[in-house]
Amino acid sequence: MQKRALGTSGLEIAPLVLGGNVFGWTADRDASFAVLDAFVDAGFNAVDTADVYSRWAPGHQGGESETVLGEWIKARKARDRIVLITKVGSEMPAGKGLKAAYIQSACEASLKRLGVDHIDLYFSHFPDKETPIAETLEAHQRLIAQGKVRAVGGSNYDAANLKEALDAAGGSRARYTVLQPHYNLVVRDQFEGALEHLCAKEGLGVIPYFALASGFLTGKYRSESDLTKSARGGRMKDLVKGRGLDILGALDKVSARHNATPAQVALAWLMARPGVTAPIASATTAAQLKELAPAAALSLTAEDITELTL
Ligand SMILES: NC(=O)c1ccc[n+]([C@@H]2O[C@H](COP(=O)([O-])OP(=O)(O)OC[C@H]3O[C@@H](n4cnc5c(N)ncnc54)[C@H](OP(=O)(O)O)[C@@H]3O)[C@@H](O)[C@H]2O)c1
Repeated sequence: MQKRALGTSGLEIAPLVLGGNVFGWTADRDASFAVLDAFVDAGFNAVDTADVYSRWAPGHQGGESETVLGEWIKARKARDRIVLITKVGSEMPAGKGLKAAYIQSACEASLKRLGVDHIDLYFSHFPDKETPIAETLEAHQRLIAQGKVRAVGGSNYDAANLKEALDAAGGSRARYTVLQPHYNLVVRDQFEGALEHLCAKEGLGVIPYFALASGFLTGKYRSESDLTKSARGGRMKDLVKGRGLDILGALDKVSARHNATPAQVALAWLMARPGVTAPIASATTAAQLKELAPAAALSLTAEDITELTL
């Protein structure tokens, strides 16, 4: 499959990134292995996780996703075939934030859970107002010098936060070369505008999360009675009305024209956005993943894009 350069990180990724928050949460170990197998079999290579996944689930501490992913990498001897992405900074039992000593220890804990000697792309999960950005970047620089991390990025940074980080990094190797924003057909304002322009100007790779709006854009939630369809259904309450339903209507029309599904069209819309390198989506079964995969070969027309962009 054709790979795209991930900004100036030196990494190359296929146009869909697999989201790992489901590993050990809504997908147990076997289901996670099946999803990962289907993903690489379809020709994709980049997998996104975070130290904190899935701390929100009852009885979990964080680290469950990295552990399952690490077991899969080991079982399949897959380290060299994937671009491995994880994050630091969300609250864990051992700490939180982006202070230098914490980043170093959190990275080592992630490497241990993943069972690997380096991470390809390491994200600051959220900006940390308590820590000077220079301290955070120095910590990332040290990890790069130690060979533990190849490239770094920022997630959930707005234009002002990102500009501050880019200015502070100058030409150093700890410069954020990739942004991971919340961006999809439903939620557009957090990325479009100043942040999008800054990324384009500075040549950052962009890998948006919640590409399917947690499953809403698959079209499986259309009324309140559908909200029990999955553990995430409760998050869709505000979407199954008004603009949310208009977007599903547009997805239905465009997908019918292409003999595709709403999920494929929602991903193809992101893949076609100038400035987006590859959307991130998760799947809880191999069948779901197999439905998502053809999005990479789906080419939307200008008319489709206008109709979808509500
Ligand atoms: N940087 C950040 O702050 C941040 C925040 C959130 C997420 N992320 C990243 O983004 C990734 C994606 O987020 P997400 O998983 O929450 O949302 P998403 O990709 O928008 O939604 C994925 C969910 O939709 C459902 N789905 C997927 N394919 C389907 C299909 N073919 N048919 C029916 N349902 C389907 C599945 O859930 P069910 O089967 O349970 O319905 C799946 O887990 C995460 O794994 C994580 O890597 C990053």
